[in-house]
Amino acid sequence: MQIVQSIDALRQTLAGRGRPAFVPTMGNLHEGHLSLVRHAREHGDITVASIFVNRLQFLPHEDFDSYPRTFEADCATLQAQGCDVVFAPKEQDLYPQPQTFKLQPNPALADILEGHFRPGFFTGVCTVVMKLFACVFGTAGGGVAVFGKKDYQQLLVIRHMVQQFALPVQIIGVDTERAADGLALSSRNAYLNAEQRAQALALHKQLQWLAHQVRTSGQPLAQSEAQAMQRLADLGWQPDYLTVRQRGNLLPPAQGDASQTPLVALGAAKLGTTRLIDNLEF
Ligand code: PAF
Repeated sequence: MQIVQSIDALRQTLAGRGRPAFVPTMGNLHEGHLSLVRHAREHGDITVASIFVNRLQFLPHEDFDSYPRTFEADCATLQAQGCDVVFAPKEQDLYPQPQTFKLQPNPALADILEGHFRPGFFTGVCTVVMKLFACVFGTAGGGVAVFGKKDYQQLLVIRHMVQQFALPVQIIGVDTERAADGLALSSRNAYLNAEQRAQALALHKQLQWLAHQVRTSGQPLAQSEAQAMQRLADLGWQPDYLTVRQRGNLLPPAQGDASQTPLVALGAAKLGTTRLIDNLEF
């Protein structure tokens, strides 16, 4: 496995080696990322992972500085998974000048849910992903990129970006990896103490409850969503949102249409100071 830091070194490494299958990450890899790497290996001539904690997608009060950085362990894990190339730029490699040119995703998709509670988040994500795509796919002229469904809205925003800019990149979405008790794997789970970890499944359980309500209760969706939020709050969480949307566009389902359409329940909530997200297609 080759580890490269600069954009030039990456391009030299990839030249003539076929179509990359790319997994962008911010490091601190867990089984969820490794599942993305395994999918990538099935789809390209050469498997590339990036490790870059992208300042542009953090709000000033968020955890950019404390975000867990575990580079050596990440590289060992990637090597064991059969990754071919790790692109690990420093900030000055990827952003040699301040990145003043940024992408503005469609507000209808990107300013809701995560984008509402983390303004600018998807601008930061799209800007770095576009730049990483330019670095990884520039020489091959295209390839495959793999994203987890755990960040459901991110996956949709990236798909829309690829479609609107006609990028020659096929996006593959991979199901969320979960711990034995069902907790969605996330780098931020590391912030939970033992007591919080034992309570952390409640977010997923409320999404399951909400999905069940929507399919069976017949009551207005807003009422079920408010109840799910309250149930989580009663357990000591601070919910940002628990909501049910149409899968493809994240619009609310049409009134009375909640029984048939493919839907997704999405939630974000803080347990102590740790903000967790999860979702459930149903
Ligand atoms: O999902 C992530 O880890 C990040 O948002 C990504 C896609 C690597 C961009 O920084």
